[in-house]
Amino acid sequence: MNAAAKVQHKVAAISLSGIRQQFGALEVLRDISFEVAPGEIVALLGTSGCGKSTLLNVASGLLKPDHGSLTIDGTAAERFSDWQRIAYMFQEDRLLPWRSVQANVAFGLEATSLSGQQRHQRVEQVLRLVGLEAFANAWPHQLSGGMRSRVALARSLVVQPRILLMDEPFSKLDPHTRSQMHDELLRLHALSGMTVIFVTHDVEEAVVLADRIIVLEPRPGRIRAVKSLSLPRPRIPTDAAVTERVRQLRLEL
Ligand SMILES: Nc1ncnc2c1ncn2[C@@H]1O[C@H](COP(=O)(O)OP(=O)(O)OP(=O)(O)O)[C@@H](O)[C@H]1O
Ligand SMILES: [Mg+2]
Repeated sequence: MNAAAKVQHKVAAISLSGIRQQFGALEVLRDISFEVAPGEIVALLGTSGCGKSTLLNVASGLLKPDHGSLTIDGTAAERFSDWQRIAYMFQEDRLLPWRSVQANVAFGLEATSLSGQQRHQRVEQVLRLVGLEAFANAWPHQLSGGMRSRVALARSLVVQPRILLMDEPFSKLDPHTRSQMHDELLRLHALSGMTVIFVTHDVEEAVVLADRIIVLEPRPGRIRAVKSLSLPRPRIPTDAAVTERVRQLRLEL
């Protein structure tokens, strides 16, 4: 593991070591190792098909890789039990068509000991955060693609996760809504100190949000570079320092 991929001095929130994954003859991930510190925001950046979703499936514990290990808060995945504090927003929204927006969002709270009223409050709160409070009683088929992905975002935030994994969470949003969601995520992150790993194709989005960017290269998916971003926050996309970093990264990649 190179120095930039390793967390210094703290127990990593997520640690992946020597991950290899093959689907039939297709080698999808080769020797992927990195650590994410508690409270860190890490972007996974790479071209389509390079294995980002597969890697997030591994990091979430959903996919046990052919080789390598996953450790969460210092505990091997096999012995880890606090899975309800990890939220995973999939690349496709996976809304349940027979449930209203609020019932979809409440889904993750059903296994908790919260009262009906507490659940209702939490759902209201996150629907407001994603700007869909007026659509609480709508059905998934009545929503646009961007609205559906905001419901999916609300559903992963409602559990107040300690670790949030998101696969292209903002890719279906218009630039204005996207930037609003960036601000909301950062606001929530500042309040909760949650650890975030998200996938994006968008260099600017990675620079605005992340503490580090892990760049993957395809066939097989490998870590090509790990970039630390020490830019001060808040990062305004039009600020010279931000546009310069975006330009540099685009050139390099
Ligand atoms: N369950 C599976 N069975 C077989 N092949 C798979 C499976 N999941 C993924 N793959 C293959 O692994 C490769 C990586 O897929 P993955 O979905 O991880 O890519 P990605 O980087 O997320 O791409 P995108 O940016 O398009 O979402 C692709 O070639 C895909 O066809
Ligand atoms: Mg993907």
